[in-house]
Amino acid sequence: MTDKKILIIGGGIIGLGIGWQLAKSGASVTIYDSAKAGRAASWAAAGMLAPLAEAHSEEPELLKLGTQSLACYPQWVEALEADAKMSVGYRVEGTLIVGLEPDDTHQLRHLYTAQQDLGLDVEWLTGREARAVESALSPRVTAAIRCATDYQVDNRLMVKALRRAYQVCGGVMHENSTIERIVVENGVATGVQTQTSFQAADILILAAGCWSAQIKGLPETIVPPVRPVKGQMLALQMEAGITVKNVIRTVRARYPTSVYLVPRADGRLIVGATSEEMGFDTRLTSGGVFELLRGAWEAVPGTYELPLLETWAGLRPGSRDNAPILGETPVENLIYATGHYRNGILLTPITAYEIAKLVLTGETSEIVAPFQLDRFLK
Ligand code: GLY
Repeated sequence: MTDKKILIIGGGIIGLGIGWQLAKSGASVTIYDSAKAGRAASWAAAGMLAPLAEAHSEEPELLKLGTQSLACYPQWVEALEADAKMSVGYRVEGTLIVGLEPDDTHQLRHLYTAQQDLGLDVEWLTGREARAVESALSPRVTAAIRCATDYQVDNRLMVKALRRAYQVCGGVMHENSTIERIVVENGVATGVQTQTSFQAADILILAAGCWSAQIKGLPETIVPPVRPVKGQMLALQMEAGITVKNVIRTVRARYPTSVYLVPRADGRLIVGATSEEMGFDTRLTSGGVFELLRGAWEAVPGTYELPLLETWAGLRPGSRDNAPILGETPVENLIYATGHYRNGILLTPITAYEIAKLVLTGETSEIVAPFQLDRFLK
């Protein structure tokens, strides 16, 4: 418990997660969001909890962070569902990464070898074996990697639950309230200037996703290097005979967009995502939607028949090295929790636990040390 007044800029899943943990400990916490909390990247995401499927051998520290956050999920979900009194759609069926032609199989084999070298729990399947696991897969599937421990959560339900849990624990929320600037005096963050007033705070946490670099008032050298990376997405309605249980990801060596299909308990099948450096543009394009529909149809031909429920685009907060920025900054009382890029939902529990720990005890675990802002300042 701390008697410090904590102010969080950004009511996305990261800000809400940290806010919930701090409010739960009895702290005084206020979140400011420039729009409606949790309706940006947290809402747009697919909810894959995929440290293995997204693992790159050159990012072992990020893989470790993701794996540890995934390990926190059962305890996180249990506590959150208890506080919010609702389900967050946590599912543990696993992920299949599939290839559809020889070039894909080659790329898949390369990924499999890298995953094995990292000691990950993965299994190589032939096309036939993959179809035995997921009968809706195309006869064209040549091979697959089964990542039995890459799970999923319904991110929209988790946002709703976090919002509820945060407020049940006493957290205060200001929506549609833009922070004009962070106020720094003599190297110490003292509060924020909103559109109407100065709000003092003892601790400021910047968790504004891809908008984190837009907020004024920070010394130029420590502005977090975070940019928006657009992802177009859509949702189909699964029907009798065309149901998918596992998360399915494609590896497409000769196409610009590999896709993922994420089945929800309510019958929605989320299909994503493009990855585009288009600034803050969130318009859908026919090419983007075409690539998603084609990718989904190639992997699961039955998707051709399914009703199209929704299309949308979100902005991932990508840092300069695409890893999150977590922890203290050279400005006293200013903490960053941003830049989660493709792994925001996965990394929510570890971020929330570690940033809350930092606020309450002044310390973080070794695992977050590589993710401090200082890596960009050297
Ligand atoms: N994590 C999936 C995505 O960013 O599209």
